[in-house]
Parts: sequence; structure tokens; C-alpha cells
Amino acid sequence: MDKKVIYSAVQPSGSLTIGNYLGAIRNWIGMQDEYDCFYAIANMHAITVKQEPSELRRRTLELAALYIACGLDPEKCALYVQSQVPQHAELTWALNSIAYVGELSRMTQFKDKSQKHAENINMGLMDYPVLMAADILLYQAQYVPVGADQKQHVEIARDLAIRFNNRYGDTFTVPEPLILKGGAKICSLQEPTKKMSKSDENPNASVFLTDDRDTVIRKFRRAVTDSGNEIVASDEKPGVTNLLNIYCAFRGCTVGEAEREFAGKGYGDLKLAVGETVADALSPVQEAQKRLLSDKKYLGEVLQAGADRAYRAARRTLSKVYRKIGFYQGE
Ligand code: TYM
Repeated sequence: MDKKVIYSAVQPSGSLTIGNYLGAIRNWIGMQDEYDCFYAIANMHAITVKQEPSELRRRTLELAALYIACGLDPEKCALYVQSQVPQHAELTWALNSIAYVGELSRMTQFKDKSQKHAENINMGLMDYPVLMAADILLYQAQYVPVGADQKQHVEIARDLAIRFNNRYGDTFTVPEPLILKGGAKICSLQEPTKKMSKSDENPNASVFLTDDRDTVIRKFRRAVTDSGNEIVASDEKPGVTNLLNIYCAFRGCTVGEAEREFAGKGYGDLKLAVGETVADALSPVQEAQKRLLSDKKYLGEVLQAGADRAYRAARRTLSKVYRKIGFYQGE
């Protein structure tokens, strides 16, 4: 029997944070053997906010290197750049005709980004979830491993798949979000009720995968904590809870175990322990990424092979879609 398909992607729109790693990439690694995996670099999504072209190109390659450095094996999964597979744009157009302006304008991310980029509320920003649905549906993905903030977008991909299937007959697998506990919502170190983001203006709010050891430890030392001094996870202690979550996600322990480990200790001890744990985990990834980036030829070959594999799968679905909607495809 064919393996089930996993699809996910990250935008090369800035330096990746430990939130991107814990909420997404880390969870992809263990799925490579059991599933047919497609992991993209979503550069078409990235241009919905202004990007410097040379930086976008550089970050695309850096993200490819990071995927491999984190443990994705290009022999097992398709690693590719979204814009190299033209069917993403083509399916987006077909899906646009069944996506409603009302539902797209209600998306949380659209509303947030419209506020943040008030001078640049473009069609792409609004259409972002339809492009994301096209990504997922092209590969007939069953599961989409993402952080909690992307749940709404995967749900719209489900809605569009169901709507299309109802109108034209069974065409798409209806995908499900796969949101693993622990790393699903890593919060800002400065405002721990808000998610950690690549684009936060405060550099101390986010820990980037490229941060060196001293920077990582310093950012955790400056992390905002809560009143009181007990190290327990609770709604009243979002700062401490976030630090415990990060600690446990990297250590592979439960929050209960971590609370017992830190019983009787102070916030300073927790911050130092989290900082050292994260720095220890990032250093081998950073070294591997650096090594990979020194071999651009290899990275180019990996991305070409990934795009070829993705293209074959995407073409199959798109041709089915075109047939169903009555697009002439030759005699
Ligand atoms: P992006 O680049 O914004 O985020 C990439 C992944 O990181 C997760 N994430 C987080 N997880 C936990 N805590 C955080 N603070 C945090 N910040 C980000 C996101 O949930 C995401 O899984 N639109 C997608 C990219 C995309 C995609 C797709 C994903 C394009 N096409 C198809 C899945 C399927 C995005 O959010 O990228």
C-alpha cells in the first residue's frame, strides 16, 4: 500500500526562531521513514510582505541547508523550493474560484499582517491561505505538521478540499493539521503571552537558530519572568511556563519532571539551565549548516531532485483538477 503523505513548509522570510524549529521542523524528522514527505521552502508566501531580492535568494539556500542540518534526509523526503514547481500557482488560481473573500478576510493572520503592514495590504496577503491550500492539496497530503498558529490555515485547506470534492467529485485528500504538544506555541521571551516570531522588532524577544552561545544565554537571562519565585507551569506564570516548555522540548522531559528538577531553585537557575540547553542543542545544527552552505553545488542538486519529485506528484493532481473543472487539455 502507498505510504500516507506529509506536507509542510517554512517561509524564508527571516532568520528562523526556536519556535519554527520546535513547532515544525523538529517534528518532521521522525516522520521521514513512515510517510512520503514533502517539505518546501515557501518563497512564494514570503513575497506577500516586502523582501530584499538578494536576501530572499540567500535565505532560501540557508533554509535548505538548515533543513538538512536539522536531520531531514534528502534521500528520504522531497526538499524543494515552492517557486520551482509551477503547479502551486496554477492550482491556487483554480482554488481561488471556490474560495470566498469573506472567509479569507476573516483569517487571523491576514488581519494581523494587514495591521502590521498597513501600507502594503496586497492581494497576495489575502490569498496566502489559498496558496497554502494548493501546496497541501497538490500532494494529496493526509497530515500537515505545523505550529498552533497555522491551524486556521490548514482548516481552510480542509474546507476548500471538501468544497471542491462536493462540487466536482472526489479529487483531493482532506488534510488534517498535526500539532504536537510541547513546542506548538513557543512564546516571546519579552512578552510571553505572544508567540515568538521571526519578525519581532525586539531582538531579545526571539532566539534565532543562528544565535551564538553567548547570545542565546544572554537572551534567556533577560527573559521576562513572573511575580513570585516558584518554578511551576501555570496560566498565571506565562514567562516561567514558556521557559519550562522550551526546556522540556529540548530535553525531551515532561513539565512535571522539570518542575521537580527546579524545586527550591530560583528563576535565575532556570534561565541559565534553559539557555545552556538551547545553546548546546543549536551548536551542532549551526556547524552542519555552515558545512552544507560551503557546498552550493550539492545543495543545488538536492533542491533540483526535490523539485523534480514534487513536480511529478503535483502534475498528476493538477491534471486531474483541470479535467474535473473542464479545462481543455488537448486531444
Ligand atoms: P512560517 O515560516 O511562518 O512558520 C513555519 C512553521 O513554524 C511554526 N511556528 C511556530 N511554532 C511554535 N511556536 C512559534 N512561536 C512558532 N512560530 C512559527 C508555524 O506554525 C509553521 O509550522 N504558512 C506557513 C508556511 C507554509 C506551509 C504551507 C505550512 C506555506 N505552505 C503548507 C504547512 C503547509 C508558515 O507559517 O510559515
